[in-house]
Amino acid sequence: MNAPRNTQYRHLDVQKIAGSLGAEVRGVDLSQDVSEEVLAEIRAALLDNLVIAIRGQNITPDQQLAFARRWGEIHLHPFMQGMEDYPEILKIVKRPTDKKNFGGSWHTDQMFSPSPAMGTMLYALEVPSAGGDTLFTNQYLAYESLSDAMKDIAGQLRTVCVGDNFKAANGLSRKERYDRQMSEMKVKDPGDVITTSIHPLVRTHPETGRKSIYIGGHVQNFDGMTDEESQPLMDFFMKQSTRPEHTCRVRWEAGTLTFWDNRCTQHFAINDYPSETRLMHRITIRGDQPF
Ligand code: SIN
Repeated sequence: MNAPRNTQYRHLDVQKIAGSLGAEVRGVDLSQDVSEEVLAEIRAALLDNLVIAIRGQNITPDQQLAFARRWGEIHLHPFMQGMEDYPEILKIVKRPTDKKNFGGSWHTDQMFSPSPAMGTMLYALEVPSAGGDTLFTNQYLAYESLSDAMKDIAGQLRTVCVGDNFKAANGLSRKERYDRQMSEMKVKDPGDVITTSIHPLVRTHPETGRKSIYIGGHVQNFDGMTDEESQPLMDFFMKQSTRPEHTCRVRWEAGTLTFWDNRCTQHFAINDYPSETRLMHRITIRGDQPF
């Protein structure tokens, strides 16, 4: 159970895109009802590769939602306004005049929730002529490549994860940042939804049984430590997580649906297409409480 997986596929064509994680998947049409057998292969491809870019799709919001619901309950983003007709879908858009993009730093989705997103499905509708790729890390490798002594220390740490992380954002609220920098990404009041949570730094994947480092931009500090004590350790674990050999890069095409496992990855949307539009539809699926 703890060994890296390597499934033989009968229905899907699965090609790795990097040494540590990531694969391109062909041979499935998500506009149709996917059979249980094919769904099981998609799950295996996800667990094997952590991030899968399913190429050549042409799906409506209803079809994306139907596929997402096969994986569990939809996790509504507590801060981000969904689409008017599809509140479960977040339209991620950067226009030529926008200076910043959504997701442009290392993070794992909705880590600030008590039961954070298990997975994210991002479907590309419009992509720049070049650029706008997304980077991913393998957080299993981030853990497994630590010394035994550091694994022991990591195993004792707990992260304080904050949805509106003023500290990481130079004192600006999420709303202030987004209103200034992203013309079409609208922030809402989370109301009484819990947006601060404490999680173990080392989590065990509920399906593979492997341990990984669970960290990202929503972490404000380690539980019970001062900022001064936390920061050098956070810097170390972020550097360890994002070592080049722990990453892959998904190059988007319109019609690609990328599905990643937030329980064992981080991602980073690259902002390198200043005068073009990039438009995506994102759905996140609720996971369980990290342990
Ligand atoms: C995100 O962080 O969910 C967005 C990733 C992307 O747009 O590539």
